[in-house]
Amino acid sequence: MPDTHPSVLAMGEPLLEFNAAAEGTLESSTAFHIGFGGDTSNMAIAARRSGVSSGYLTRVGDDAFGQALAELWRREGIDTTHVVTEPGGATGIYFITRHGDGKHAFTYRRAGSPASRLTPDDVPLPAVAAARLLHISGITQAISPSACDAAFHAMETARAHSTLVSYDPNHRPALWPTARARAIVMRSAELADIVLPNLDEGRLLTGVCEPADVLAEFAARGPAIVALKMGADGVLLGAEGRTTHVPAHRVVPTDATGAGDTFDGAFAARLLDGDSPLEAARYAVIAAALTTTGHGAVGPIPTADAVRRAGAA
Ligand SMILES: Nc1ncnc2c1ncn2[C@@H]1O[C@H](COP(=O)(O)OP(=O)(O)OP(=O)(O)O)[C@@H](O)[C@H]1O
Ligand SMILES: [Mg+2]
Repeated sequence: MPDTHPSVLAMGEPLLEFNAAAEGTLESSTAFHIGFGGDTSNMAIAARRSGVSSGYLTRVGDDAFGQALAELWRREGIDTTHVVTEPGGATGIYFITRHGDGKHAFTYRRAGSPASRLTPDDVPLPAVAAARLLHISGITQAISPSACDAAFHAMETARAHSTLVSYDPNHRPALWPTARARAIVMRSAELADIVLPNLDEGRLLTGVCEPADVLAEFAARGPAIVALKMGADGVLLGAEGRTTHVPAHRVVPTDATGAGDTFDGAFAARLLDGDSPLEAARYAVIAAALTTTGHGAVGPIPTADAVRRAGAA
């Protein structure tokens, strides 16, 4: 056990990434770059690189993929006290291919993964109570009913111990039916202090179209902060009784994978360090923009120094 619990505790499913080196279909690809994914793992790393202590709660297999993830977290200084390694478990993986239209295709092999066997028993009360912020996503809930139960148990435990709850819907239609996603996401917004949807999923889940209306639908569930992520249009922030548009930081993007996760982690880190929501959002849009300038989800996540330099430029 570490002497101190991390300030940020994220929970969900990590994945090993196989990113095709060249454009084309999966079967025509001959080389892949190994990378790392899993939205909540990305968030934990983004928070850590922005300067707060951060830990991850999940289950992985004792296979080479699980070992590669464990090595990643060790390098990044992520607390893995609550990562359970399952003998014989097959850690989830995914393939990214790029097609001529500039679109990415994601192909997952994650059904039956160790993370999908998360249960409420995996949620450590002392660590959740001691954390300053718990981060959960809709993917954490979508991977299995027991993982969904674990997510709700973690959020309720956090609330009972004054740990902030940060929640990103990260809706993935392939993982669960939209009607179920809608019910679970909107209930989670009631348990959260900070809700971090993107505009597309926000529209789908709330049924309204205008960004301000989408934001209002989430805010009506009670979170103190809603940050609606709008890609190159930046963020619409609802906090402290005001709605403020925070423009995106201008970059030439090459791969937006993980921009939302980086926003979430950078935003949490700055809030915990005492920034106002608006100051934290201004920092986090720079961090998120910088991640779009490199390939893969984790590699290009910037450090606090890199964000400060870009902001001053
Ligand atoms: N092309 C871009 N230029 C500048 N900033 C960007 C760009 N794309 C994304 N960002 C920044 O990243 C933030 C998050 O991106 P986005 O809105 O795509 O979130 P998301 O859909 O949740 O991402 P994810 O794919 O990680 O789930 C945006 O609010 C914006 O600040
Ligand atoms: Mg997202």
